[in-house]
Amino acid sequence: MKTVATFTVNGLPHEIAVEPHQLLIEVLREHLGLTGTKHSCGVGNCGACTVLVDGTPELACLTLAMEVRDKSVLTIEGLAKEGLLHPLQQAFVDYGAIQCGYCTPGMILTGKALLDDNPDPTEHEVREALAGNICRCTGYVKIVEAVLAAAEVMRKGGN
Ligand code: FES
Ligand code: FES
Repeated sequence: MKTVATFTVNGLPHEIAVEPHQLLIEVLREHLGLTGTKHSCGVGNCGACTVLVDGTPELACLTLAMEVRDKSVLTIEGLAKEGLLHPLQQAFVDYGAIQCGYCTPGMILTGKALLDDNPDPTEHEVREALAGNICRCTGYVKIVEAVLAAAEVMRKGGN
């Protein structure tokens, strides 16, 4: 039986009838058309589906839609402001940290949670934070460089 869930996605309130077993990734991609959240392994192993729930990285493939009731969800679509990429998005472009791009939304949102909590992380702390986000393409060096570069921009007040 469906229940109405109220939650916020990228700052906009939503009221959606969801089944008890329905996953957040399904609601985001299929009901709201937010396909930036990627479905990859589907079992919690890769991090591609990472979104922020009240600022904390969560795997949308393992999170029930009902679990985000009355909470605030941020997906990759909610990061750019007034046509300007978030410093993390810009740094991923500038540092060539994107190849196929499938892991990128999850990487960037995990990176955002890290920098919100720790604006001046060491390389080790970046690698540790991103440990649950798997990339099949890049070898991680450019991703780590991009997060560190974005941290510097943000410390200087960028975005
Ligand atoms: S798709 Fe969710 S962890 Fe891989
Ligand atoms: S850029 Fe292809 S999986 Fe990371």
